[in-house]
Formats: sequence, C-alpha cells, structure tokens
Amino acid sequence: MPATGSTDVPAIEVRNLTKKYGEVVAVNGLNLKVKKGEVYGFLGPNGAGKTTTLKIIMGLVHPTAGDVLIGGKKPDAEVRRDIGFLPEKMSFYDNLTPTQTLEFFADLKNAEKKEIRQILRDVGLQEAAERRVGGFSKGMGQLLGIAQCMLGSPSLYVLDEPMSGLDARWRKYFKDKLKTINQNGATIIFSSHILAEVEDICDRVGIIHRGRLLFEGTVQELHRHLKLKPKLEIMIEGLAGKVPEELKGMEGIEASASGDWLTVVCDYGSRAAVMSILERKGLKILDFRTSEPSLEESFDLLLASVEGRR
Ligand SMILES: Nc1ncnc2c1ncn2[C@@H]1O[C@H](COP(=O)(O)OP(=O)(O)O)[C@@H](O)[C@H]1O
Ligand SMILES: [Mg+2]
Repeated sequence: MPATGSTDVPAIEVRNLTKKYGEVVAVNGLNLKVKKGEVYGFLGPNGAGKTTTLKIIMGLVHPTAGDVLIGGKKPDAEVRRDIGFLPEKMSFYDNLTPTQTLEFFADLKNAEKKEIRQILRDVGLQEAAERRVGGFSKGMGQLLGIAQCMLGSPSLYVLDEPMSGLDARWRKYFKDKLKTINQNGATIIFSSHILAEVEDICDRVGIIHRGRLLFEGTVQELHRHLKLKPKLEIMIEGLAGKVPEELKGMEGIEASASGDWLTVVCDYGSRAAVMSILERKGLKILDFRTSEPSLEESFDLLLASVEGRR
C-alpha cells in the first residue's frame, strides 16, 4: 500500500527560480510542479531558459535565487544520481560499442551491469549492441542516450530536447519508448522547442518564454485558456460559395464558403447545432472534416499575446 498523501508530493517542484548570467536573466522567478507519474512537456522557444532550468534541477548550475525540491525534499547528489538525465548534447566515445558505453555509465552511476542487455533490447539497439557508436545515426545516438538514462531503473527522467534532430519516424519510435517508460511507472519531464510533436504524449505542459512560465496545464486547458475553437469543414452539394443565411446570425460562429466547402469556426458546444441547421435546411453533405487547434497555433498565439502586452 502506498503511504497516504505521498502522491500529492510533486516529483519536482521549482520555486521562485532565477538564474542570471551577468546581465542575461536566463530564468526569471520560475515556479513549476511536475506531478508523480506524469509526462510533463517543458516547452518554449530557443533561449527561453529550458536548459538552464533543467541543469539547475540536476544540480549542474547554481541558481541565483529560488530552489528545487525532488520528491518534496532538497536533493543531495545521491538523489540526483538516481535521476535519468539526458543532457542537451550527449556525447559518447566513438570507439566504444553500446554495451561498453553502458558499462562505462553503469560504473559512474553504481548501477547493475546485468541490466544492460535488457535495456539495449528495450530501446531497440540489440542488433547494434556490438557495433562502434561512431557510426551511429542521430536517432540511434538518442536511443543510446535514453538507454543510459534507464540504467538503475530511475523513477524520474529529466530529458533535454530528446527529440531534436530526429525525423518523423524516429520521433514516433522515440515517443513510443517514452510512453512505455512512463507506463512502467516513471515520471518524465522533457523539454522541446517544437510543440506539434509533443502534444500527444504530454499529460501536462509548461510553457516558458524569456525565463518566465506563461502557462501550465493540459493541452486542452491551454486551448480553453486561449479560447481556441475547432474548425469544421463541410462539403455541401451545390453550395456555390454561399454561406447559408441561418448561420450568418448565429452568435460565436464564423462561417465562410468557398466553392462547395463551408468552413465554420465555432466552440465545441455549437458543433451539433451547426450540423442540425444544415440538415434541417435539407442540404446534402458530401464530406466532412474537423480540425482541432494545434499546440503550435496555441503557442504562437500565447507568445503573440505576451509580445503585444510589452
Ligand atoms: N553559460 C551561459 N552564460 C551566459 N548566458 C547563458 C549561459 N547559458 C545560457 N545562457 C543564456 O540564457 C538564456 C537561456 O538559455 P537556455 O537555458 O539554454 O535556453 P533554452 O534551453 O530554452 O534554449 C539564453 O539567452 C542563453 O543565451
Ligand atoms: Mg536548450
């Protein structure tokens, strides 16, 4: 039985964190909480302060102000050694094989070496286990980086831009690996400046810009926060570029027409009303598609709204 209340303690809590490099304020009064068991996407454009924050979490950079709690406590070196950390730029010795590389890291982390074969199998590098790392593709290198994190079966992973430089197929593969690690019970925080690629695996996202947290919550909450609306595209026989009169007066709806396609931007609750109006009018619907607002759109809007306020 888990101890009562233990799940309320965040896996990571960042409190009023500030980091200045001379005149540059890399992190500016940042607060965030990563809940136990979740996948947390730490998102923001280049230079936003993601790497600095993650390095402070890992104890690699000293904050100017504020602090970090891991599992509710100020972490010591031993607690941090048990975190699976993937730095922004991970480098390996070209002449070593993945097996030798993981043996090297196992020594550093005091982790069991007998896990190595299984970990290489888990990340899909078993075929390449005895090849030299020097010949690896970027994707294979990232998988070896994740394998290195998995040594010692950590309950917490901190990954800095783990998907950067990977093509779509590799990203999919990589995300599947992260999902499996999470389903096996680990908490994951990872950073990314490319938002569209992460929304399907994050339980929650934190958005950072110029060292400040602009938003923290689920992707759906972000859409609601920005009042983003889904778009309906409906192909109607004989529409001829005209918006049906009945839709024109409806509140909270933007409708436009082009050829046989009617485009309606409305909130989620009004979608059914729009469809029944069209049906009652006896229009023949030939095709239909909806598109949800993407995280990319949300992100651009969020940044624009912040820039606008300056
Ligand atoms: N060691 C450093 N010395 C001086 N400035 C730094 C250093 N590290 C980061 N910065 C600056 O801090 C800001 C945040 O950088 P970083 O945390 O790397 O952002 P991100 O990872 O989101 O791209 C940037 O303006 C960057 O140039
Ligand atoms: Mg970075």
